[in-house]
Amino acid sequence: MTAEQDHTRLFQTADEHSEPISAEVKGNLPSWLTGTLVRNGPGRFECGDTSFNHWFDGQGLLHRFHIQNGHVTYSNKFIRSESYADSLKHGESIHLEFGSFIPPDPCQNIFRRFFSRFWADELPMDNTLVNVFPMKDKIYATTERNFIFEINPETLDTLKRVNFTEEFPGNTTIDSATAHPHQTPDGSVINISITYGRVSTYNVIQIPPSSGKPDERPLEGGNVLCSFPPTGGVGYMHSFCLTENYVVVTETPLVMNVWRVLTRRISETGFLDWLYWDESQLAKFHVVDRKQGTRLGTFSADPFFTFHHINAFEEDGKIYLDACCYHNSSIVNQLYLHNLRSPMVPGEQKLDDADVRRYELPLEELGDAGTAKTLTKGADGLDYTLLYSGMELPRFNYSEKNTKPYKFVYGVGDVDGMIFGHLIKLNVETKEFVTWKEPGGFVSEPVFVKAPDGKEEDDGVVLSCVINISDQTTSLLVLDAKEFKELGRAVVKKITPMSLHGLFQREMMQYCSTA
Ligand SMILES: [Fe+2]
Repeated sequence: MTAEQDHTRLFQTADEHSEPISAEVKGNLPSWLTGTLVRNGPGRFECGDTSFNHWFDGQGLLHRFHIQNGHVTYSNKFIRSESYADSLKHGESIHLEFGSFIPPDPCQNIFRRFFSRFWADELPMDNTLVNVFPMKDKIYATTERNFIFEINPETLDTLKRVNFTEEFPGNTTIDSATAHPHQTPDGSVINISITYGRVSTYNVIQIPPSSGKPDERPLEGGNVLCSFPPTGGVGYMHSFCLTENYVVVTETPLVMNVWRVLTRRISETGFLDWLYWDESQLAKFHVVDRKQGTRLGTFSADPFFTFHHINAFEEDGKIYLDACCYHNSSIVNQLYLHNLRSPMVPGEQKLDDADVRRYELPLEELGDAGTAKTLTKGADGLDYTLLYSGMELPRFNYSEKNTKPYKFVYGVGDVDGMIFGHLIKLNVETKEFVTWKEPGGFVSEPVFVKAPDGKEEDDGVVLSCVINISDQTTSLLVLDAKEFKELGRAVVKKITPMSLHGLFQREMMQYCSTA
């Protein structure tokens, strides 16, 4: 196995380094680049003596790169969830994760194991391993369920668990919320939540900016902007997008089987087993008026699956919506650890490629929320425009371009069978792209940071965490965003697990009014 192929370290349990380690700076970091990049991702893959099954089962590990006066430090710390505590020494409760069901004592005999299903407690699914985002001048770690954790971005300490189900104001039960909420210029947070029940609903929820009161509760002032029922099964939602006047809620055919949820103790199934691909269901774009709080209408499209929307905007009487899309939901199963850890073979893909697609939703056809309008297909038989094939974990100049026309998106892609093989900069107007890679290097989600005096959309840097198996290092890579060439890096002599999403603090300060 070559160094390039020895990728299993990306998906192995990490040691915690809560004290900052000095990184060796190489090249030239911009003098204006000062701040903190906090990233989140799976970092512990065992529960007691049992291994987790899926990448998204890994316990949330926060990574912190702090840049000041040309010096860079690295630290990491696990989020102190109940799930993490149980993963250290599995106890008497059922431990559920995205792709795992771990009974109280997996070693007990069949007789005891059968009956323990009925009396054992279930741990809360509070492993917030996915994203980091600001709300009310604080920073939270998120996942797709009903919990978020406030964290200290300096120490990475876990401060407080917030339970949407119990703490969201009003009568609507918030059973889950996407991992990718949006922040508006006034500091409000908008997210899509789901209420599960005999009649389930999707809810567009809004949480206002901080009032400045010292005792303000995290979700204080939150309200439901709009609720409406699923068109078929209850869809899995990881993200969504905004335009200036609308929220677009994308419903794909990956839906939840309520019977499987109810029988999970008998079948010993985790979250992913409760989902299935409903081939009879089209994809839907529900368009909600942000001011009126009403669903104006729905567009249907050929089935597809997406984790990540990129951006959306209004122009020429249409909503243009860009997202990283798959033909189906196979990618969700391809992220099981046995697949990710299996040998990489040049030319053979472990993971499906996501297309960067642009959907066009004609606003003049809105008006009847009960009837979905079918999107028109082009001469190529597609109801979307293909902008690029093979990009995931997209980021762009969010603080200036969210909800607006934009040019550039940055992402990661696989190369010749090598997962997380290169970084990509794509011009969504011209479809031109450039890439960056290095031998033995595995790249993570690129985070764009605007230069303080930058005038053009891509005046700034792109930060990515590069894990190089060949020389056993993890680097904070700093690329010039315009040229997409390396300016410098900060190198730590250790391998860290692959992370998912991150937040640079100056970015947060730009779109939080009181930060
Ligand atoms: Fe995500």
